Amino acid sequence: MVSAAERTRAGGPADRERPAVSEPLPAALLIRDLAQLATPAGASAPLRGRALRDVEVTEGAFVLCRGGLVAAAGPMRELPTGLDDVEEIDGRGLSAIPGLVDCHTHACFGGDRVGEFSLRAGGASYEALHAAGGGILSTVRATRAAGEDELVRATVQHRAWMRAHGTTTFEGKSGYGLDHDTELAQLRAVRAAGGVPTWLGAHTVPPEFGDADAYLDFLLAEVLQDAAELAEAADVFLERGSFDVAQAGRYLRACAEAGLALRLHGDQFTESGAIGLAVELGARSVDHLEATGPEGVAELAASAVTGVLLPASALFLGRPMPPARALVDAGALIALATDFNPGSAFCESLPLVLSLACTQMKLAPEEALVAATANAAHVLGRAGRIGRLRPGLSADVVLLDATDWRHVAYHLAGDVVHTVVEAGAVAFRRTA
Ligand code: NIG
Ligand code: FE
Repeated sequence: MVSAAERTRAGGPADRERPAVSEPLPAALLIRDLAQLATPAGASAPLRGRALRDVEVTEGAFVLCRGGLVAAAGPMRELPTGLDDVEEIDGRGLSAIPGLVDCHTHACFGGDRVGEFSLRAGGASYEALHAAGGGILSTVRATRAAGEDELVRATVQHRAWMRAHGTTTFEGKSGYGLDHDTELAQLRAVRAAGGVPTWLGAHTVPPEFGDADAYLDFLLAEVLQDAAELAEAADVFLERGSFDVAQAGRYLRACAEAGLALRLHGDQFTESGAIGLAVELGARSVDHLEATGPEGVAELAASAVTGVLLPASALFLGRPMPPARALVDAGALIALATDFNPGSAFCESLPLVLSLACTQMKLAPEEALVAATANAAHVLGRAGRIGRLRPGLSADVVLLDATDWRHVAYHLAGDVVHTVVEAGAVAFRRTA
């Protein structure tokens, strides 16, 4: 089933602001008698430092959705009277949080890497598999062979998995095509599945190119202009074995000139200058940071760049967790995401990521929630449109099967998501 949210979000580049809706908007929806409603404080600015834990909690609450937006939200005693023609959801025993925002996924790919997973379980390293032509390149082979229809089908399926865990907005990267046609097919597939597309042309060097510079020449001459028509941001894997800081800088500067926002995969295995480059170029985010040391923490904290932390990836690869506590305490802007992909994080669950944030990185549940809602929305250039339960924002609501919203992080890998509302319409309901 295609939801209203999918229809409104699957437009072309002209639709980057919330697009015009060609079909009737969902009728008014009232979620009433909620045990709790929890939302990040503030209107649109991301929260950092001590403010990262500013979550407003209302006991005994309602959310009224109209025209796809939140019309009102607050304590039951403030429920407007005279509401008719309203569909109602009984919120007794449930709590509400904003729809979760997954600001870093690789949700469009062909095949899987379960064989590699077995090899890693037996001791093979992710980097060694990559260097031997497996890893990312094995997904490149499967993605090139899949065809666009199959890529759309797979991405739609992955989106459904994410939605069942409370994700109402997801970003999806290319980077498994590494040729003109497959990169563009991936970006179109992400759009078709309702996602926010990011061009990761510089993911790694495909075998038909001798070196990274020759491949970048091709990307910038032959793919960039078309990719910029489809994508909102560009991303690069700045790491030994993929692209160095000079190459990443060349790629990102050209992408910025073409109008794309900038993201980086950095400090996943080695500190290779990603934070400095992100700050210099005014990137939206630098993502991973498992290898970041104290100097990188201080540099990021003094900047406007968001550090996107991906603890499911660290867990899946048996890597150290990123220094989340140090980053937050130093005042850095952070967000949390799954990094959903077939190799380093076959995990679509943001609630699991929130659990890891609290148990492994010592974030408070409040900090984890803000990082995966309001701050993730900021990374996607959607602050003030999604990520909070406030009048005028998209009516994206997750109802949790618990009277205390913190169960979203507390219930480790639990079935905590009861109902998901997207743009004011029920998009997922857990069957008993
Ligand atoms: O974010 N590290 C680079 N890219 C992805 C993994 C891609 C893959 O293994 O297929 C990441 O972890
Ligand atoms: Fe990633």
